[in-house]
Amino acid sequence: MNSKPATYLSLKNKVVFVLGGSSGIGADFVEAFAKQGSKVAFVGRNEKLANELIEKLKNCSFIPKFYKCDITNLKMLEASIEDCIKSVGDIEILLNNAANDERHDFKDMTHEYFDWEYQTNLRPHVFAIKAVIDGMIRLGSGSIINLGSIGWMRKNEKTVLYGIFKSSMHGLTNGLAKRFGKNRIRVNTLVPGWTMTKKQIDQHLDDEGEKKINEGQCLPDKVQPHDISNAALFLASDESKMITAQSIIVDGGWT
Ligand SMILES: NC(=O)c1ccc[n+]([C@@H]2O[C@H](COP(=O)([O-])OP(=O)(O)OC[C@H]3O[C@@H](n4cnc5c(N)ncnc54)[C@H](O)[C@@H]3O)[C@@H](O)[C@H]2O)c1
Repeated sequence: MNSKPATYLSLKNKVVFVLGGSSGIGADFVEAFAKQGSKVAFVGRNEKLANELIEKLKNCSFIPKFYKCDITNLKMLEASIEDCIKSVGDIEILLNNAANDERHDFKDMTHEYFDWEYQTNLRPHVFAIKAVIDGMIRLGSGSIINLGSIGWMRKNEKTVLYGIFKSSMHGLTNGLAKRFGKNRIRVNTLVPGWTMTKKQIDQHLDDEGEKKINEGQCLPDKVQPHDISNAALFLASDESKMITAQSIIVDGGWT
């Protein structure tokens, strides 16, 4: 099987901003877009992992720019986006990727825990869009990709709050696709299945998980970060220019 991603000429020199790009699927986004010749900037908390990623991509036409930022801090997030716009250019592609799928029991929920889930899994994404939207209007073009999840679709009882905010991505997508469609700004939800990041393999994939994948997916292979990036590249490129207000599910056909 040829695993080299397609080349999208329309992505060259486009400014791409990734929330949560130091590790996991987000790091794969940074790499995939940088290799298309896009100008990638990303926020994250782990400086060491970010620097390792940047080192790996140092021969790209634009070396990705990292902002150390905890996205629960909106002022910090907005300042990072503002600096990117000033120093790199108007952001045309936004990947609303950062999240935390921490397991929890609904009965243990406190006010503080609810607020933390909301401040991690929904609020930054909404304000990141608000911070990039004027630039996209100036460009007359934009692709916003909100990361969803199949977790709540599969009725995962261990991530109820995460599920509430991940399902909200669809409402965010639909409302804004209509609001800014006239400006040729497209908004879609990209929904990963159970994707084999290092964190998922180290913390969550066990024998029972393997069994669930075998029984749940139509396809026998496990979903990899690059499978999600391949869909993101397409959704960001001109090749998908009439696709908006959609959910694209990449889960190996989970039933
Ligand atoms: N991996 C999966 O199986 C899976 C399944 C369904 C949906 N998703 C979605 O795909 C996206 C990426 O998933 P992932 O598995 O790579 O997630 P992840 O748990 O590795 O986190 C994504 C990134 O966000 C960063 N992040 C988290 N909280 C942050 C904060 N407060 N400030 C700054 N950065 C922060 C993490 O450090 C990481 O780099 C998420 O939106 C997730 O909900 C993933």
